[in-house]
Amino acid sequence: MSRHPMHEANRRGWDAASAGWQAEIDARVDWRSIPDNIHLALDDVEMKYLGDVSGRSVCVLGSGDNLVAFALAGAGARVTSVDISQTQLNIAAERAGELGLEIRFLQADVTDLGCLESPDDPGGPGGPSGPPDVGFDIVYTGGHVAVWVSDLKRYYGEGIRILRPGGLFMVNEYHPFRRLWKHDSVPLKQAFHYFDHGPFTYDRSEELPDGTEPLPSYEFHWTVSDMTRALLEGGCELVALEEYGDGNQDWEGGTPLEKMPANLLLVGRKKTAES
Ligand SMILES: C[S@@+](CC[C@H](N)C(=O)[O-])C[C@H]1O[C@@H](n2cnc3c(N)ncnc32)[C@H](O)[C@@H]1O
Repeated sequence: MSRHPMHEANRRGWDAASAGWQAEIDARVDWRSIPDNIHLALDDVEMKYLGDVSGRSVCVLGSGDNLVAFALAGAGARVTSVDISQTQLNIAAERAGELGLEIRFLQADVTDLGCLESPDDPGGPGGPSGPPDVGFDIVYTGGHVAVWVSDLKRYYGEGIRILRPGGLFMVNEYHPFRRLWKHDSVPLKQAFHYFDHGPFTYDRSEELPDGTEPLPSYEFHWTVSDMTRALLEGGCELVALEEYGDGNQDWEGGTPLEKMPANLLLVGRKKTAES
């Protein structure tokens, strides 16, 4: 359960939608090949900053289809996968079992990662009386997660808090410029104001078996500067900001989005006492 009522509604929506979502992803990517071919889930530009992840502790936030979690675990990282939807996690846990990957799956809201401070977690350098810090080497998030989260500062702030000082915070999001347009409209027609954060309310009741109950879902729009500021204010220095990908993706339908950046990659390093 999330304490945030809109996130709680989104959780119900994702629980209802997860089987259909996974089927759509499965039609595009073969999850069974990910551990042997991690480039199916991670772009070269991401790999450039991640480096060799073997033996590193990595937390994936809003892990969804868990393709990134499978890739990182396949490359030898010790992976914790966090998602608000237990149904998404259950599907991923079964697949991880089939792949022989040891991944820790945790149900949590990305704006409240208190559940990671269990006694089994490696303590931070502050010790019991210092600031809580579970000390991951890398926190990875993105691929359409921020759009579901009402408080970007808390989300990134929590992601950065669970890093060890000097750890890497990587966000790879669908670029905010691509979210502004009416779907399937040629030529492009603007549907949203770039600076309007929402919430935008939708109905996901078609995901329910009988489709009769209302199932509201809430989406948010975050700008490039919102994301950059949240990373800096969360306690990171900026290592990289990259925009890339300019083609159309099949799920984008007929909306002519080519020539606009598809990905916004932000890489931060958690500040240390010296930095
Ligand atoms: C569109 S998927 C993106 C994740 C992944 N890149 C993928 O393609 O499956 C969004 C995921 O974020 C999760 N999510 C939404 N709101 C969340 C929140 N507040 N905390 C944690 N996970 C959340 C959903 O359950 C879903 O699995």
